[in-house]
Order: sequence, then C-alpha cells, then structure tokens
Amino acid sequence: MLAIGADHGGVNLKETIKNYLTERGVEFKDFGTFGTTSIDYPDIAKVVADSIVKGECEKGILICGTGIGVSISANKVKGIRAAHVTDTYSARMAKEHNNAHIICLGERITGCDLAVEIVKAYLDAEHLGGRHGVRVEKIMNIEKAE
Ligand code: RB5
Repeated sequence: MLAIGADHGGVNLKETIKNYLTERGVEFKDFGTFGTTSIDYPDIAKVVADSIVKGECEKGILICGTGIGVSISANKVKGIRAAHVTDTYSARMAKEHNNAHIICLGERITGCDLAVEIVKAYLDAEHLGGRHGVRVEKIMNIEKAE
C-alpha cells in the first residue's frame, strides 16, 4: 500500500499522480487534503509518515507547493527517510541508495508529466543494499543517538 498526501499547494498534482498509480495498478491510500482550502503541510506529512511507521503503508508520496515543507516535516518523524526530488535520476537514487520511504514533490516546481516520470523512476527502483545499506543504517543511528 502506498500512502499519498498533499497540502492545498499540491492537491492538483496529487490527482495526476493518483491517476498514474491507478493505471499502474498500485494500491494507494489518500490521506488528503481534498480541496484548495489552505491547510498546514506538517499535518499531512505526519499522517502519511505515521502510516509507514505503523506498517499500514510501505511507501509514500507527499506533495506541497515546493516539496520542501512536506520533506522537512516527514523527516522529523522517527524512522522515516523522505527525499525531496525534482528529477528522475534523484528519484531512482532515493530508492537505490537511500532507501527512502517517501518522495516529496512540489506542484509549483515540477510539471505534471515530469512528476509522473519521477514517480515511475522511484517505483521502478530497488534498494541496492551493500555499502548503501550500511550508509542508510548510519543515518538511522544518528537518529537513535539523539
Ligand atoms: C503553502 O503556501 C506552501 O508554503 C506549501 O505548499 C509548501 O510549499 C511549503 O513548503
């Protein structure tokens, strides 16, 4: 199950991405928001990230105006690695090297077609493990040491 969520600045791109997920046959849960009324992006980032920590969802996509607010917020949830991506190479690396649970996109930054390509690159990728796995473990140890 994939968790998806957006604030008011990302709600249109969320629909585009949901259409792609449906075409691709990816099951998803939409955590909102569902309109253009202004909301606070940390609230959506938290529920999406929590769904992954709880095991309800395995991965996620978060969208706001820039992708920055949701990525900062999601990375504050213990256990979560969220990657702010604006290109397909970074999206693939976010999975292959960083094993990111969530990718974060900005509707005001990234056009619909590119955003779909970015999602595709992330979903097609597999974590490479090995030295990259060791580095991911070191990331999580930083958090554990806090
Ligand atoms: C909301 O106007 C905007 O600040 C938000 O969508 C996001 O871009 C924050 O990083």
